[in-house]
Amino acid sequence: MADFHKLKVADVYRETNDTSVVTFEVPTELQGTFKFKQGQHLTLKATINDEDVRRSYSLCSSPNENLWKVAVKQIPGGKFSTFVNSTLKAGDFLEVMTPSGTFGVPVNPENAKNYLFFAAGSGITPILSMIKTHLASEPNSTCKLFYVNKTAKSIIFKEALEQLRNTYFGRLEIYYFLTKERRDIELFNGRFDDEKMKVLTTTFIDLPDTNEVFLCGPEQMVNFVSQYLIQAGLPKELVHFELFVTGLSEEDIKRAERLAKQNVEGTEVIIIDGGKEFSFTMTKEFDNILDAALGAGADLPFACKGGVCSTCKCQVKEGDVEMKINYALEADEVDQDYVLSCQAVPKTQKVVVDFDV
Ligand code: FES
Repeated sequence: MADFHKLKVADVYRETNDTSVVTFEVPTELQGTFKFKQGQHLTLKATINDEDVRRSYSLCSSPNENLWKVAVKQIPGGKFSTFVNSTLKAGDFLEVMTPSGTFGVPVNPENAKNYLFFAAGSGITPILSMIKTHLASEPNSTCKLFYVNKTAKSIIFKEALEQLRNTYFGRLEIYYFLTKERRDIELFNGRFDDEKMKVLTTTFIDLPDTNEVFLCGPEQMVNFVSQYLIQAGLPKELVHFELFVTGLSEEDIKRAERLAKQNVEGTEVIIIDGGKEFSFTMTKEFDNILDAALGAGADLPFACKGGVCSTCKCQVKEGDVEMKINYALEADEVDQDYVLSCQAVPKTQKVVVDFDV
């Protein structure tokens, strides 16, 4: 269910010049509902200039801390990020959806895993939550972080990371890469490329001994690094990622164009949400299930409407749909018929989708 709750902002502070960290006060009676796993995100909703604006932000706190914190980086012209970075203050209230997302693996105190993390800019947010959680809850696991930023000053959560490195001495290695500031060691200047990855995978990373890899950042970086690691021998199923999408690929554009021509008019759609069924018939006004359902009066969860955040995830129980783009679901979720409803175009005369999953 689209479960928004009004939460009080306990604190807002500037982490860097262009990034604010927001802490929410979650009342005791809601703490069970807001229980989260490392790597999950919160969808925030605000009315900005009379417009209902929603965005998803990864939690940077760990479930062990009993804190609900997100980092919001100012995007030039971004409605929500400008609002947070220039207007929001402690004491204000925001509509917050219960945590969601599947970026992360189960924590087990018996684990003795070696985790690798690649992050760029605000991509550190879910990664910080994971590093804190695995280090605290799995005493025999180790973490290595490769983290790209423009300049030393723009490194988000540098202090928190350094503290973790001290607290868990010997179990967390951090390597910073800067793209707009030069340092003496050439390896640490610039983005990940073939040459750097070759050095990293032959000297800093023991690939056969790596158990899980998490990547978060712009699409180009995530695709490049994950492909490199897979080609270097790392099993695909150990590589997990979350993207910032900067543009659609040729293939995505072609698929989206083809699906936009699909005749969906007259398709019968049944939505299962909150244990109840809601049905409607698609008109040609909307081509995806989410927009059509919202248009028909359903109250469903969504944030980006761009195939990135997975807030609108549901499972196809009957019929067939095709997604225009999918930057959020992993292959095993797609195999289990999970789809992003904001991208799901019906391909059969009747479709039943379940949001209670
Ligand atoms: S609303 Fe974000 S993926 Fe659909």
